[in-house]
Amino acid sequence: EIEDIPVITIDGPTASGKGTLTDEVAKALGYHVLDSGALYRVTGLAASRAGIDLDDGEAVAALVPTLELRFQDGQALLDGEDVSADLRLEATGLMASQVGAHPAVRRALHQLQLDFRQLPGLVADGRDMGTAIFPAAPLKVFLTASAATRAERRHKQLISKGLSANIEGLRADLEARDARDKGRSASPLQAAADAIELDNSAQTIEQSRDLVLSWWRDRRPF
Ligand code: DC
Repeated sequence: EIEDIPVITIDGPTASGKGTLTDEVAKALGYHVLDSGALYRVTGLAASRAGIDLDDGEAVAALVPTLELRFQDGQALLDGEDVSADLRLEATGLMASQVGAHPAVRRALHQLQLDFRQLPGLVADGRDMGTAIFPAAPLKVFLTASAATRAERRHKQLISKGLSANIEGLRADLEARDARDKGRSASPLQAAADAIELDNSAQTIEQSRDLVLSWWRDRRPF
């Protein structure tokens, strides 16, 4: 039974550290990972390349079933081309946020996300994993960090890649994206009623990981 396959959801705002925490928890448990943001990013990127108006939800949604997508060895392949680097661009994050505002696009991506639920288990990272995609998940985490902390982390990340960045500009960008993700009517960014909130501003990744693993030991349904 699909319902018997365990799922942990980790939702939260931009640059809160969801991706890293998700990978660490999944590694510790030997579970699969769903990076749902990558699906919205690929959709935004493909639509923009195809010259589709990102504000036209029906047109973007119609493109989804035609995409040939594969995730393997940390790479994202779109129609056979490695688009991993493009997916990480801030501009692509903005396109993802824009296409993610359309209910038709969210519907088009729904089943694809459910398909990631495979044995021995799944850790799912996004904005609506606990509210819309896996509402019955036994452990839901809502990960937050202050805007200042998130901007600082993003800044360090870019600098370490040899890119230049302005911390005030980064903070403004991520706050604007959060506002859109929270303000949309279709599955907005919000904590599920039964989610545990974790503010990791002052925590190391190991501390956050161990906390989530301890919650999982208490809550796993078997
Ligand atoms: O997590 P991320 O930065 O890769 O997500 C990029 C954008 O995609 C995010 O700003 C909003 C959208 N998104 C969404 O609407 N629902 C999700 N479950 C994941 C991402």
